[in-house]
Amino acid sequence: KIPELSNPSVCMRDPQRVQEILQSMVKAGSNTVQVISDFDMTLTRFAYNGKRCPTCHNILDNSNLISNDCKIELKELLNTYYPIEIDSSRSIEEKLPLMVEWWTKAHELLVQQKIRKDLLAMVVQESDAMLREGYKLLFDHLYEHSIPLLIFSAGIGDILEEVIRQAGVFHPNVKVFSNYMDFDESGELRAFKGELIHIYNKREGALLNTGHFQELRTRPNVLLLGDSLGDLTMADGVHDMENILKIGFLNDKVEERKQSYLDSYDIVLLKDETLEVPNAIMLYLTVL
Ligand code: TMP
Ligand code: MG
Repeated sequence: KIPELSNPSVCMRDPQRVQEILQSMVKAGSNTVQVISDFDMTLTRFAYNGKRCPTCHNILDNSNLISNDCKIELKELLNTYYPIEIDSSRSIEEKLPLMVEWWTKAHELLVQQKIRKDLLAMVVQESDAMLREGYKLLFDHLYEHSIPLLIFSAGIGDILEEVIRQAGVFHPNVKVFSNYMDFDESGELRAFKGELIHIYNKREGALLNTGHFQELRTRPNVLLLGDSLGDLTMADGVHDMENILKIGFLNDKVEERKQSYLDSYDIVLLKDETLEVPNAIMLYLTVL
């Protein structure tokens, strides 16, 4: 019933199961549905015209708010830790402390740069940040149907909000849970607020967060969008879950990681830079 599920980028371990989940969600009605999505490399593009697109962190790293020396250090961190992030031969347990190390070191470097709050909008404007093709349809459609969208990101909240604001899709149904910057009275970055969110502690964040986002509790049918295996636990704060459909973007090291993605995501999108499949599913869930 959803022709987009036959797109060449789509892989499913159990297509029958996907049909069942979708039918069950349609039956429950769109007022029971919520979307929980990762941000970097899930709502944003991985590449455009063969060139890598930036994450929230990269938007800052590449900007003129960062000194050249610091840029070199941040680049070294990226070159060290990104290959670990996507290494399918290491377990999550093995990678977790290394990811904490990456985030901690990167945030320490950023804090030393006295980044000014009032310049963030310009930095985003001048960056190569790009939401995936079809983003407007997704955000507008969810808003029109009063379906909450929780963006759950280990990136930087201030930056990602600016990306969606400038794209004209920061609607009132969008809630963001992420790492936020803490500025002093003069508007200079002095720290990051609260508990660090990295790619492998989203479960803890999700559980803590249900108090803040009451709608998380009351909508038992979840469409989850992610690009990392750490994104799979983003919906763990939802009480009395009825159905969850997990859609995973597999952007990089596709052959090595395909099997593990197929084992854990219901729908895997291989090198698909568009939101065509999530959009088709949203339309299907809201036809009535
Ligand atoms: P996400 O949860 O929104 O996908 O954000 C996490 C991504 O941020 C993850 O894929 C790694 C990336 N990242 C950087 O690009 N640079 C950094 O300095 C850090 C700490 C993370
Ligand atoms: Mg991501």
